[in-house]
Amino acid sequence: MTQKGIKRNILQRVFGIPSTAIIDDSSAWSVEGNTIVVDLDRVPQLGEPGSGVRIESRELSERILVIHGNDDAFHAFRNRCGHGGRRLDPVPDDTTIQCCSIGKTTCDYTGRVLSGPAKSPVVVYRVESGSGKLVTYLD
Ligand code: FES
Repeated sequence: MTQKGIKRNILQRVFGIPSTAIIDDSSAWSVEGNTIVVDLDRVPQLGEPGSGVRIESRELSERILVIHGNDDAFHAFRNRCGHGGRRLDPVPDDTTIQCCSIGKTTCDYTGRVLSGPAKSPVVVYRVESGSGKLVTYLD
C-alpha cells in the first residue's frame, strides 16, 4: 500500500516544521481541570474535514493536535511523534496523521503506527463535541 503524505520541502522536514498552524485566537480555548474546551465557532480552521490546529501553551504539559478528520469526526492527539518527538499533521484526503520530520511516521486516527520509524503509538485523547464546543479529555 502506498502511504499518502503531505507536501513539505526538505528544509521543513529537516527542521521539523509542521504544516498545521497553532490556534491564533488564544481566547478561543481554555483549560478546565483535565479538559481543553475549544469554542468551535471561533476556530474556523477546524471547519472542514481534513483540517487541524495545534494547541500549545505553558498551561499545558503537552502539545495537542486537534483535527477535524476526513471521517468527519474530531480527534485529539498528543502532538509528539513516537520516534523523535516531532509534531504531527493531518494528511489531506486520508484518515491518517503524519510526522513533520524526515522519518514521516504515519499513524491512523487510533494512534497506531502504519509506517515510519516510530515504535510507539501516538497518544489519543477522548473528545466530545456539541453545542459549538469541542472538549478534549487529557486523562
Ligand atoms: S520524529 Fe517522527 S519520524 Fe522521526
